[in-house]
Amino acid sequence: MTIRALHVASELYPLLKTGGLADVAGALPPALSERGADVRVLLPGFPAVLAGLTDLRPVAQLGRRFDAPNVTLEQGTLAANGLVVYVIRADTLYDRPGNPYLDSQHVPYGDNAQRFALLGWVAAQLAQHLDPAWAPQIVHAHDWHAGLAPAYLRAAEREHGRVFARSVFTVHNLAYQGIFPAHLFGQLGLPADFFHIQGIEFYGQLSFLKAGLFYSDRITTVSPTYAREIQTLAQGGGLDGLLRFRTHDLSGILNGVDYTVWNPATDALLPEHYTATRPVGKHACKAALQKRFGLAEKSDALLFGVVSRLTEQKGLDLLLASLPEIIKRGGQLVVFGTGDPALETGLQRVAHSHPESVAVELGFDESLAHAIIAGSDVVAVPSRFEPCGLTQLYALAYGSLPLVHRVGGLADTVVDASLENLADNLATGFVFERFEPEALSAAIRRAFALYGRRTEWKATQKRAMQQDFGWGASADRYLALYRDLT
Ligand code: ADP
Ligand code: GLC
Repeated sequence: MTIRALHVASELYPLLKTGGLADVAGALPPALSERGADVRVLLPGFPAVLAGLTDLRPVAQLGRRFDAPNVTLEQGTLAANGLVVYVIRADTLYDRPGNPYLDSQHVPYGDNAQRFALLGWVAAQLAQHLDPAWAPQIVHAHDWHAGLAPAYLRAAEREHGRVFARSVFTVHNLAYQGIFPAHLFGQLGLPADFFHIQGIEFYGQLSFLKAGLFYSDRITTVSPTYAREIQTLAQGGGLDGLLRFRTHDLSGILNGVDYTVWNPATDALLPEHYTATRPVGKHACKAALQKRFGLAEKSDALLFGVVSRLTEQKGLDLLLASLPEIIKRGGQLVVFGTGDPALETGLQRVAHSHPESVAVELGFDESLAHAIIAGSDVVAVPSRFEPCGLTQLYALAYGSLPLVHRVGGLADTVVDASLENLADNLATGFVFERFEPEALSAAIRRAFALYGRRTEWKATQKRAMQQDFGWGASADRYLALYRDLT
């Protein structure tokens, strides 16, 4: 029997992307479809989403909802792969350019509660046959933006005395909780008793994330290690109690790589192509990167690359503390990202004082991201915490050895180049244990040491490139979960 599943998310590559959530929302549904599931996606009608879909046509008129007049549900297609995407057109809520969550001052929009409550509400309506032509058996909600979907489903269940769809809630990042003042509860249209510690209430406020965790039938997160970490007091963000309570419904399913987008053998954004067995093209990618960023064009300088949101999570302050270790050994560093203004200026200041060996550029650009992942020798991901992390997986595919903190998905995907791992042909990168400059510096020294042993370096690169993190295995696990529920 074909399973019908609706994925509910706020961003989707290639339409709109601020981070890895978009990569997952863009790649997991097609991977599920390839395995025979009937999968559609629901997104808010942000300008980039509406502009990127073809064959848009109305499905239902919803009238006035969450203070937005004339809300309509439309349906379109993603030309690249034929994915069917439902979009909510509510111009007063969504017709804003740029970042989908923050205004131009980096401040969350004042009406985010209404903007994302509407997303969850429409998801639950789709399960109740809002589209007469198609209704999901599984509603799969991603992160806090879609956290109210399971709550609205539960409310509908109670009102009508029947189950419309089962729900899966995936936590991509527990640090973003969708917290809003309690006085907004009345506008959500949920049963009064849902404002409760056994419900959406969180220390006197509303938490959309908690709603997803509490009301969903199953919870997943994006790596096995992160699934364990978030059940601890230290890393549970105040929700570890609930997560431990739901431990039997909680599992970690590792994200995958879309190798149609991230493959150095075919990547149209690279100056030259290369493969694990014919790696020479990588030299041209490195040279082009050094030139692009105005670094000394030395082929033998060990080049560290970072492509990242610039937030506390990503641990770049630690990398700055260990930067002397890179510079004194003749290495180079390229950082490309955007985010927290304080981190942005801190990084730029460092680049100014080491123009030959450190380059920092602010912005968000897909082609530059590919150029850095391909042209670097090492891709650094020193995150304080990392639910899964995708850049280290892309780095593996491009033979750019990842240097990572042993947390979350980073711990699950990179094997340290210790002597014993090298001897057993297991090493794929550099892993440090404690989030301290000494530990990171030691990993940096390991990278230089291995770089000095060219034969072993090349063997490690080849092994990294041959790792298979395709979506297949993960999609199978999600399908098994859906089957279990239906
Ligand atoms: P997170 O979702 O926490 O940001 P991930 O590693 O899961 O971390 O995913 C990050 C995604 O965003 C990757 O596809 C990465 O290439 C991309 N990315 C991050 N920063 C930039 C940037 N400045 N420009 C382009 N892509 C970026
Ligand atoms: C989040 C996490 C990241 C993960 C991504 C996709 O943004 O920070 O670790 O890879 O979601 O699941």
